[in-house]
Amino acid sequence: MKTSLKGVGAALRGALPSVASVASLASLALAAWVAQTPAQAAANSPADQTLVQRGAYLAQVGDCAACHTAPKGKPFAGGLPMTTPLGRIYTTNITPDAQTGIGGYTEADFIRALREGVAKDGHNLYPAMPYPSYAKVNDADAKALYAFFMHGVAPVQQANREPDIKWPMNMRWPLKFWNLAFLDKSTYRDKPGKDAAWNRGAYLVQGLGHCGSCHTPRGVAFQESALDESGSAFLSGALLDGWFASNLTGEHNAGLGRWSDEDLRTFLKTGANRHASAFGSMTSVINNSTQNLSEADLAAVSTYLKSLPPAAGTGAPPYAYDPRTTKVSLERPANDAGARVYTAYCLHCHGADGHGFAPMLAPLAGNPNVLAKDPSSLINVTLNGTGDLVIDGVPSPFPMPAFATVLDDQQIADVLSFVRAGWNNGAPAVGVEQVSKLRKSTQAAQ
Ligand code: HEC
Ligand code: HEC
Ligand code: HEC
Repeated sequence: MKTSLKGVGAALRGALPSVASVASLASLALAAWVAQTPAQAAANSPADQTLVQRGAYLAQVGDCAACHTAPKGKPFAGGLPMTTPLGRIYTTNITPDAQTGIGGYTEADFIRALREGVAKDGHNLYPAMPYPSYAKVNDADAKALYAFFMHGVAPVQQANREPDIKWPMNMRWPLKFWNLAFLDKSTYRDKPGKDAAWNRGAYLVQGLGHCGSCHTPRGVAFQESALDESGSAFLSGALLDGWFASNLTGEHNAGLGRWSDEDLRTFLKTGANRHASAFGSMTSVINNSTQNLSEADLAAVSTYLKSLPPAAGTGAPPYAYDPRTTKVSLERPANDAGARVYTAYCLHCHGADGHGFAPMLAPLAGNPNVLAKDPSSLINVTLNGTGDLVIDGVPSPFPMPAFATVLDDQQIADVLSFVRAGWNNGAPAVGVEQVSKLRKSTQAAQ
């Protein structure tokens, strides 16, 4: 509001030399006030405009839109359902609308919600809002975010929806104890002995980027079992909502050990590289967040990730491509149920050599997701296909089709077991019961 008043003040000063009476000046000011969107008002002062723009960038880094903008909904008006261990909850309206959004939040209220998970009226937020990660965000960035949400976002009147959690589980006070146990309230502090890029990357990955909220395994109380690289489970891969978020440590098969710094930057910028493509819940991270990172921040993120020592490996030797056995099965698919399905439904895109046409069509040979212990992502992507990856406004031309209505559970288990054994991938077979389970849970979620 302060910025808007300043804007009006500037308009008034500009109008003063005219002959207008005080009364008409006041109405002129009022008209200017009403006609201006908050963003325009903020634009009147270059300093504030810079702050709002910086906040807009940080909101992309934090991927606030992924949760606070529902499909086909107005930006940041909330309403997206999220599944938690207690039941379904809905994201809230964080537009500056005074009645239904956060228009009444002071800067201090906003920063407390962001970093400590407490709403203005004092109620605790469920940690589905990733405040345990956002706790690391420094004051300057938190203030820029506030400036953006107050002056760069259009207010939307849309009431919040109550969580579908029944009494007594819906009581929020136990979250205070959860916070005592699991919330580290200190903002990120640079680690001595590490260079500026490493520290910037650590700050972004652990903090606003909240990569660990999907990629770090969770403990019994749904807490992330490590919040930085001091814990070996940090970013070592985790199952959430039917997708296995890959191992991002230096592990050489299922992790990023075989990826160069450039491979990693290409993936985060474009959603695909010579090893793999983005799919599942990573698609929206690329669409809304990482493709917008500045070159410097992208480099920082990959410097930090590439420094993580290998974790959660199986002890298998580093992957080496070998197509011989697979070539034989594909030449005589009669004896191999998986090879038959692959030949009929997958080969024309992913290739007999398993290389696909990377980065357009994902390779399956040596792909870290194919080599991961947990096959959930592979089953899910084969059943349900992929949502559109949109880079620079252009949707990907050949998305992975959904096979849920084309192949039965046994065929999917067969083809994925074939893919996991193929080209020397050496990953364990997929059981038909694993496919049935994911088919049921992903259908229920739709
Ligand atoms: C992974 C999903 C997710 C992301 C990402 C996320 N939020 Fe939230 N946020 C939520 C949920 C869910 C709630 C409501 C929780 C509840 O009702 O207990 C919430 C609540 C809030 C609130 C409290 C407002 C209220 O009335 O409930 C604020 C403020 C907020 N988020 C700001 C942000 C900002 C700023 C960002 C980006 C930096 C962000 N959120 C990113 C899920 C998310
Ligand atoms: C909403 C959940 C979610 C969040 C948040 C998330 N990821 Fe992911 N990520 C996934 C899933 C699921 C996959 C596996 C599918 C794929 O490869 O795209 C994945 C895959 C990846 C991969 C590819 C790894 C491989 O072996 O193919 C990289 C790299 C990655 N994520 C980096 C990041 C970074 C960096 C962040 C934080 C800025 C992040 N992710 C945040 C869910 C998430
Ligand atoms: C029309 C071409 C096409 C066909 C047919 C196809 N896929 Fe895909 N597949 C893709 C594309 C493209 C991706 C990359 C994700 C994306 O951008 O949608 C992909 C991704 C995948 C992935 C995830 C790997 C990664 O890193 O992205 C797996 C696993 C997979 N496909 C398995 C299969 C199986 C099994 C079949 C046959 C039952 C099959 N695909 C048929 C195009 C295809």
